[in-house]
Amino acid sequence: MSYHKLLERQLRRHLPDAVKADGLAPLLAAISDAYGDADADRSAIERSLDLMSTELTERNAQLQVELLERHAVEQALLQEQSEQQALIQKLEEAHHQLLQAEKMASIGQLAAGVAHEINNPIGFVGSNIGTLRGYVQDLLDLIAAYESHEAELNESTCQHMSGLRTRIDLPYLRQDIPKLVGESIDGIERVRKIVQDLKDFSHVDEAQWQWADLRSGLDSTLNIVQNEIKYVAAVVKQYGDIPNVECMPSQLNQVFMNLLVNAAHAMHERHGKITVTVGMASPEIVFVEVADEGHGIASENLKRIFDPFFTTKAVGKGTGLGLSLSYGIVKKHHGKITVASQPGVGTAFRIVLPICQPNQSPD
Ligand SMILES: Nc1ncnc2c1ncn2[C@@H]1O[C@H](COP(=O)(O)OP(=O)(O)O)[C@@H](O)[C@H]1O
Ligand SMILES: [Mg+2]
Repeated sequence: MSYHKLLERQLRRHLPDAVKADGLAPLLAAISDAYGDADADRSAIERSLDLMSTELTERNAQLQVELLERHAVEQALLQEQSEQQALIQKLEEAHHQLLQAEKMASIGQLAAGVAHEINNPIGFVGSNIGTLRGYVQDLLDLIAAYESHEAELNESTCQHMSGLRTRIDLPYLRQDIPKLVGESIDGIERVRKIVQDLKDFSHVDEAQWQWADLRSGLDSTLNIVQNEIKYVAAVVKQYGDIPNVECMPSQLNQVFMNLLVNAAHAMHERHGKITVTVGMASPEIVFVEVADEGHGIASENLKRIFDPFFTTKAVGKGTGLGLSLSYGIVKKHHGKITVASQPGVGTAFRIVLPICQPNQSPD
């Protein structure tokens, strides 16, 4: 009869006789079975613990992977969010530009119509007043000639004439008529200028794309506006090296002129500098900057200055078309016009233009 190893060993050591006693055999066999059962239970428990431990390790690894994945998803979400934000900003910008462009287009049509309608009457009124000036002078000369012969008339006619002369106040008329005619001619000249602005604004022109040096355009424009500028500001030129640019030079000159005249107007009595800077903004882009030391632009006006007909100038001095016209021209050149201004310190307008146009006829 053999028992569980452990029981066997204990019996041999402590109760060597018990093994031989037959009466104890069933008891010992039962104890041996109990030992065996305990062994089996223990190894079963050990096995299931092992199993649980591997499962836990696996689950742990899985959780780690899930955590990493979640982190990656979060990162992606953040990235997407910032991309969306950038997109929204771009959309807003595009929307703003579209609005501006649309506004300009409709005002442009309106302006072209108005300019066309006004052009004709202003033409003949102008030329008639010019002729009238000559006629009136002739009549005044004739009256003077009659006057020189007044002594030859009889007394009653002479009295009649002199009464008439006093009634109409001839000396005053002589003084006032040329003034009236002169003012009218000035007025018509102003209207003609506005009509011209309107026509330019609505792009009724046949300008050609060509390669041109912006610096010579600036120089000729400076010559033209010299009269407006020389009493109020000193012009400082800072021309860097730039290549010829594909553009419509006459239109760009118009932009330069608007900026220069605006700068001169901003000077008031403070004699300061107008600095014209030209250079490369990047290998494919040139810039032109017109900076003044004038009164600056109030922040609430900054977003309106490119609007057609927005002006802060007195009637007769500004039409409010210069900058909106310039905006359109620069846009047509696939460039950008921006402004920085500090009230009381000065204003800088900056135009950037690509050297080459993306296609030949951008309209
Ligand atoms: N350099 C400048 N300094 C200060 N204000 C300026 C300047 N340029 C433009 N502005 C402002 O922008 C307005 C619009 O300019 P513009 O479109 O050229 O029209 P206008 O000169 O006929 O008023 C001006 O009336 C003026 O208030
Ligand atoms: Mg102007």
